[in-house]
Amino acid sequence: MDFALNDEQRGIQELAREVAEAEIVPHAAAWDREHRFPVELYARLGELGLMGVCVPEELGGAGADFLSYVLVLEELSRADAGVGVTVAVHTSAATLPIVAFGSGEQRGRLVPPLARGELLGAFALTEPESGSDAGSLRTTATRDGDGWVIDGTKQWITNASHAGLFVLFARTDPTTTGARGVSAFLLDREHVEVVREEEKLGLNSSSTADIRLGGVYVPADRMLHAERKGFTVAMATLDGGRIGIAAQAVGIAQAAYDTARAYALERRQFGSRIADFQAIQFTLAEMSTSIDAARLLTYRAAWRKQAGLPHTTEGAKAKLFASRVAVDVARDAIQVLGGYGYTKEFPVERYYRDAKVTEIYEGTSEIQRIVIARGILQQHERTLPVVGAV
Ligand code: CAA
Repeated sequence: MDFALNDEQRGIQELAREVAEAEIVPHAAAWDREHRFPVELYARLGELGLMGVCVPEELGGAGADFLSYVLVLEELSRADAGVGVTVAVHTSAATLPIVAFGSGEQRGRLVPPLARGELLGAFALTEPESGSDAGSLRTTATRDGDGWVIDGTKQWITNASHAGLFVLFARTDPTTTGARGVSAFLLDREHVEVVREEEKLGLNSSSTADIRLGGVYVPADRMLHAERKGFTVAMATLDGGRIGIAAQAVGIAQAAYDTARAYALERRQFGSRIADFQAIQFTLAEMSTSIDAARLLTYRAAWRKQAGLPHTTEGAKAKLFASRVAVDVARDAIQVLGGYGYTKEFPVERYYRDAKVTEIYEGTSEIQRIVIARGILQQHERTLPVVGAV
């Protein structure tokens, strides 16, 4: 077992850290305040190869491994978790399923512009009545000659307002109500009507919108993978995506810890630095230990995915744990900063608002526990109740 990053992984981590410190950190508070999606940043990240880190070189990506990609998400999220989720959904949820399941034509046409950041990707699974119970989705795709006509509404779609490519899930078999009648489609911007931009607690530099598909016709070659195999595409995609959200959570927690540590070493009360008080020392010790554990779970899941090993349970464990750590560490960082932590003068209140959603999207913590329980009890059938609502 080797815990050291290799030269390539360290190089990509340093590149992401440098660009995050120079081009994201100085603007993150303003983007949050102004709810601004920094569209110009993604062209820049594309130039640097950071919009397709783990996409093969022959498809226009940087050709690095999945752990390198996770390191990039961690660094970007440490600077601005809204940027982190934009890149995570674009890569894990929109680009990688095309790499994994796409036809030669789909891969050749769509993956290079996605990997270069010329096209932004979105993943449209969730609907108003179908969140945690993703298999109950109601959007329909009805056969029409050689193609399909798609009708429905998708909700809380990350990147929707800026995306040029949507991996969208629709029911192609109206005789089934569950996961088995679902197929995946690759839609363009013009197929989709953005109906509403969401207002959120945090992640204000990211875009989350509702979209409508109003009887849009797509030819048969827009189907991704086989008919009625869409749910498998969605679940396999989320297996990797959840590792990315765990990395985002680690990045947020690291940023909150760094701020709390620096503040504790500066702030003086009762004649001492507050870092000299055991109450603060113990808080920082707990934060640092939890972040290490979350990071190790995340890197293990990434390593397993890269090695082609099963990673469903490991990814769910990483997301479950890291998201809890992000919320706990961000909350405790506010406590270390006291009144200053509650103000916009310091970034820890933003970290706290941003952290919360890591316990919700790409499967709530309750869904992660179901996935883990199924894995450890080897129950692959739907035998456990689904709780929690995305
Ligand atoms: N990999 C591949 N295939 C899988 C799979 C996996 N990990 N898990 C399930 N499948 C397949 C099954 O084999 C089965 O296929 P067959 O019918 O061919 O046998 C099919 O999918 C149905 O599986 P289940 O019976 O397990 O399905 P279920 O209805 O019980 O649902 C669930 C399981 C885990 C609860 C699932 O609904 C789920 O993950 N829900 C949460 C949804 C979610 O995470 N949404 C996130 C939205 S995207 C997002 O948040 C992005 C963002 O903006 C950041």
